[in-house]
Amino acid sequence: MKNVFKTKSISDLVKETKGDKSLSKVLGTFELTMLGVGAIVGAGIFVITGVAAANFSGPALILSFIVSGLACAFAALCYAEFSSIVPVAGSAYTYGYAALGEIWAWIIGWDLVLEYTVSIGTVAIGWSGYADNILKGIGISLPTSLLASPFEGGVVNLPAVIIVLAIGMLLIGGVSQSAKLNNIVVAIKLTVIVLFIILAVGHVKTSNWHPFMPYGWNGVFQGAAYVFFAYIGFDAVSTAAEEVKDAKKDLPRGIIFSLLICTVIYIIVSLILTGVVPYYKYKGVSAPVAYALQQIGINWGSALVSVGALFGLTSVLLVMMFGQTRIFFAMSRDGLLPKFLGQVNEKTKTPIKSTVIVSVAAAIISGFLPIGIVSELTNIGTLAAFIIVSIGVIVLRKNRPDIERPFKCPLVPIIPIAAVVFCGYLIFKLNIETQLRFIIWFLIGMVVYFGYGVRHSTMKDKEEERAS
Ligand code: ALA
Repeated sequence: MKNVFKTKSISDLVKETKGDKSLSKVLGTFELTMLGVGAIVGAGIFVITGVAAANFSGPALILSFIVSGLACAFAALCYAEFSSIVPVAGSAYTYGYAALGEIWAWIIGWDLVLEYTVSIGTVAIGWSGYADNILKGIGISLPTSLLASPFEGGVVNLPAVIIVLAIGMLLIGGVSQSAKLNNIVVAIKLTVIVLFIILAVGHVKTSNWHPFMPYGWNGVFQGAAYVFFAYIGFDAVSTAAEEVKDAKKDLPRGIIFSLLICTVIYIIVSLILTGVVPYYKYKGVSAPVAYALQQIGINWGSALVSVGALFGLTSVLLVMMFGQTRIFFAMSRDGLLPKFLGQVNEKTKTPIKSTVIVSVAAAIISGFLPIGIVSELTNIGTLAAFIIVSIGVIVLRKNRPDIERPFKCPLVPIIPIAAVVFCGYLIFKLNIETQLRFIIWFLIGMVVYFGYGVRHSTMKDKEEERAS
């Protein structure tokens, strides 16, 4: 029990990655930035923006994106500092271990399951919507029973299940191959967004921006908590730490560059979306970017954007699944999760078993739950992890001022405190059911930790080793 609040030494954390189980080192700044953009631009911009504009933000969607973007920028600087100190696959989980102690690490790791596995479910549901759109365009109609969860009058969301399992199989094939595929997919995704901007910008009518804030500031902030989903993923860059050539330099760059690129994209896209079509028309629209082009009569563009979005969502799935397996890899190495979750297959150099488990869990989520519930759960889990990581930066600066920090978060403690305040406020703005579900998830996590993690943690062995 006394180890529950013990922190892990940074040299131990880094040393552990040097074993013969190490993953292969193939990624540089460019690949990492692509990995980040691959994880970030997805269901948030392609699916969730429409609902946010119609229900919460109105034309002030841009303000919601700015507020949420600021929360992420502050958190990203904290992540960047940690990623340069502890370039280890566990990301925020590992940072918690280094700065705050085992139980905090566990709480973050448990939250990250919401961020990663549950977001895979969310994005796969969005993927299914776009796939259905395209299939309809070529005359193939799937029955509702195979397109929606039981909560929405269907039986199972089959395309969502299929895409999740397919991505799992791809990742089992090997990381280098997946990174190359990711670069191509990200290029396609960015191309269709640029295409959208070029096609739509001339059709913006400033009259559509009035009234600017139909739901007031409250709507803007609720919208910010909702569109936060769109930014999730820059932190996924840090889960690739052990596959990076020069981690201390490349990781902070990858995190910051990818967030910057996406923030600029979101601000432009949200302005154009609300400028070409009145915000209230997006109510119930599941493919707002394609819809906007349809509304201004550019059907070929709409079809092309749909195909691009499908690729875009695929890359999010790829990176998020990659990230989740790497976090499990780190947690099982520490004994907090069973060993088999961290086993790396010798031939493929990938963690096959954990990939299978994550794919099956995410497939079940995407097949049987509605997008509203799962996207908000993802947001709250991620926001909680961001808050703990930001506190970790302040604590580690105080407890270990001596360690080398190749990247330093500026203005500590102001920036980390700003991250805590912004992320905390966004949690407060999510709906109450989401907050209750999160508390239940947290309590389950505590049961697992005290029932399994505490007893299997390798922390004790390390202490004994050091003592002898
Ligand atoms: N940010 C990612 C998306 O929008 C998770 O799909």
